[in-house]
Amino acid sequence: MTSPDGITRTGPGGIWLIIAPLAVETVADRLADFEALVRGAREARAKAHAPYSRFQVGAAVLAEGRTFVGCNVENASYGATLCAERNAIASAVAAGYRRLDVVAVSTSAMSGASMDQRSPCGVCRQVISEFAKEDTLVLLDAGDAEDGRIQGEILAFDSLLPWRFRLG
Ligand code: THU
Repeated sequence: MTSPDGITRTGPGGIWLIIAPLAVETVADRLADFEALVRGAREARAKAHAPYSRFQVGAAVLAEGRTFVGCNVENASYGATLCAERNAIASAVAAGYRRLDVVAVSTSAMSGASMDQRSPCGVCRQVISEFAKEDTLVLLDAGDAEDGRIQGEILAFDSLLPWRFRLG
């Protein structure tokens, strides 16, 4: 899979593909903030502990106006590995911020790698769901354009996990 259909919009430092069915008007004036979040996710990615997979992931979540970051933390007992998104969300929750407005993810997948190689895993999607709102957004870092601008996709979280499990 490459990228699904979308509409391209440019921000001050980024080129964004807004993935259908997300409406362009709902995100058009927030692109500068999104670029800052992707930069935060990249900084967190640089701190990843990923000696086994060598696949570094960073996440930055915007929760009630505050930003929290996380990176993947692998373990010699592979199953004990922690994903970047869940670490960022745990930090937000521990600080008392639960409503997720935006989740930005940056991976060491090459620029030009298809979207499924840069998207949150299924377990992370379920954890995002726990704290997501109807309009929570997901930003996927797609690397730098030739002119140095950030490239990325913007998705409605709902499109990443339709018919998700909820208790009660
Ligand atoms: N990983 C994440 O941190 N987030 C995801 O959503 C997908 C996978 C990490 C786990 C492991 O350290 C490495 O990426 C390879 O799977």
